[in-house]
Amino acid sequence: MARIAIIGTGRMAVNLGVGWMRAGHTVVYGSRNPEMAPHLAEAAPGAALMGHNEALDGADVVVLAIPFGAVEGFAAHHAMALKHTLVIDISNPFDNLPDNRISAAEMTAAAIGAGARVVAAFKDNFHETLAEPVDKNGVTRDVHYAGDSEEDMRIVKGLVEDLGFHPVDCGPLKNARALDVMVPSWSNSTRATAAGAGRRGSSSHDRRRDAAAGG
Ligand SMILES: NC(=O)c1ccc[n+]([C@@H]2O[C@H](COP(=O)([O-])OP(=O)(O)OC[C@H]3O[C@@H](n4cnc5c(N)ncnc54)[C@H](OP(=O)(O)O)[C@@H]3O)[C@@H](O)[C@H]2O)c1
Repeated sequence: MARIAIIGTGRMAVNLGVGWMRAGHTVVYGSRNPEMAPHLAEAAPGAALMGHNEALDGADVVVLAIPFGAVEGFAAHHAMALKHTLVIDISNPFDNLPDNRISAAEMTAAAIGAGARVVAAFKDNFHETLAEPVDKNGVTRDVHYAGDSEEDMRIVKGLVEDLGFHPVDCGPLKNARALDVMVPSWSNSTRATAAGAGRRGSSSHDRRRDAAAGG
């Protein structure tokens, strides 16, 4: 069983953490303001809540469940702690990538520098469906993941299966570029058909993000 540090205390963080704790992993949350996240005690009972540095200390796996715009800076700032640790980048950049020749996860790896072990995953999994790995038709939902290390891909595959999802190996980390580009496309098609599309977002970005992962 792994010690999983989830950075961020939002929607994805909560549902991933709850699922992994249920599977027997130890989950700790890293927050900018741990005292400002009392919702976690109720949302993810049993998980420890602490500052970023403490959460990273001793983690086997780090999940960056923070906004895309904050990921690169976080990775650079904590590069020493993140080197040689498996980092799962779940962030969706939408229109904010410099171009389509690099993925968000590759930017994260570059910010960590030599020794980075980054896997892109959960990009197109809507936060609410993280708690429902099997859809209403009885179909197990996919989790796409991409990374360069065979061993890290094996670990992520196991973590995906621990949540009850179907892992889809998308190959090397550079293939995360396709995921980053596809998420807005999935978003549009899902938005066109999903009953709940746009149901919660307060901005077009929120609506696209939520619909994107709603598959
Ligand atoms: N929502 C989805 O369905 C979905 C699907 C796939 C992927 N994603 C990706 O998953 C990530 C998290 O999404 P979410 O929907 O869970 O977001 P969220 O509910 O807004 O939570 C994000 C968390 O990140 C932390 N945070 C916010 N701003 C930050 C900053 N500037 N620096 C460091 N930490 C910051 C906050 O935790 P603290 O205040 O405790 O620090 C916050 O609770 C995003 O990158 C998103 O693109 C989301």
